[in-house]
Amino acid sequence: MIELIKGDITYYLETNNSEEISELFRLADRIRERYVGNKVYLRAIIEFSNICRNNCKYCGIRRDANIKRYAMKPKEIVKCAQYAEDLGYGTVVLQSGENSIYDDKMADIVREIKETTKLAVVLSIGEKTYGQYLEYRIAGADRYLLKHETSNPKLFYELTGRNLENRLQCLRWLIDLGYQVGSGNIVGLPGQTIEDLANDLLMFKEWDFDMLGIGPFIPCHGTPLENHPPGDPILTLKVIALARILTKNAHIPATTAIRTVLGDDKAHLIFRCGANVVMGNVTPLEYRKLYRIYPGKVCNFKDPESWLNDIKEQIREAGLKPSGEVGHSLKRRWRLKTLKLKHNNKNFDLKKC
Ligand code: 5AD
Repeated sequence: MIELIKGDITYYLETNNSEEISELFRLADRIRERYVGNKVYLRAIIEFSNICRNNCKYCGIRRDANIKRYAMKPKEIVKCAQYAEDLGYGTVVLQSGENSIYDDKMADIVREIKETTKLAVVLSIGEKTYGQYLEYRIAGADRYLLKHETSNPKLFYELTGRNLENRLQCLRWLIDLGYQVGSGNIVGLPGQTIEDLANDLLMFKEWDFDMLGIGPFIPCHGTPLENHPPGDPILTLKVIALARILTKNAHIPATTAIRTVLGDDKAHLIFRCGANVVMGNVTPLEYRKLYRIYPGKVCNFKDPESWLNDIKEQIREAGLKPSGEVGHSLKRRWRLKTLKLKHNNKNFDLKKC
């Protein structure tokens, strides 16, 4: 059993020695093989609205960005999810900027997808109230993605204008409500130190998240950080590898951001240093180009079918097997199948997965 302490983590994050870096990647690859096997789970993502009330300095769809905004209709979202199932996906991720347009529609959208497909439904719609998270869980949402972006509270505030504590509270609520929860960070944010990254990694382990999204910072035109250098791809791969070694069986995607900076020809490497998930974009093309969180996204112009063929090829090239299974969390706590909880004097029995 390998147990890394903070000093080891910092050492590996800092080393330029290519032998040591390869050794780290090989170790992560072995741990991935042992704890999660050789399947790479395919998840579909629908970016259903770029309307956002937040003003994060790194993000291309921030409130002050001068871009055309869109909000897909609930029916379009459901149709798109059904299309994802037809393509062979087992999971659909519904992601949007943080807005309140869907607050009273989300539960119906989730319910309809759960009633008409076998898909696992993942929400990625930002910070909400406990009551809203509960409502969406009752409607059948299985998982939730809410990256903490950086575990440094000062840096988080500086970049997002918001308090990290609120986000952590949301993550606690989501865990309490029996969601499979994904967090994650951005590597190479302006002002971020190696120690910050080591703390992110220790937080991944301590919170025992079900999923972890790790990607490099990519400067985006029209944001306050447009002239800052992008995050280093090797450093990002190291963070992915260390996350695998520390957390063992978390689901870790080869994020669009890391695939974008590495380019298509090197993307298969990500699956050999810890990643075991990949997301395919099924957002209708007319909207997809407007969901420009950062430029150059690898998936921007490909139609979902040819994209799927390409990614399956990359996965096989890495010696692994693409899988359209539902691919729920591998954490032990999921063996407990139901969760009983009380809210506003009412009792709820929630099925876990
Ligand atoms: N570079 C890299 N990742 C970014 N995100 C937002 N803006 C950027 C950027 N410029 C990531 C955040 C967010 C996810 C949806 O996209 O981590 O959680």
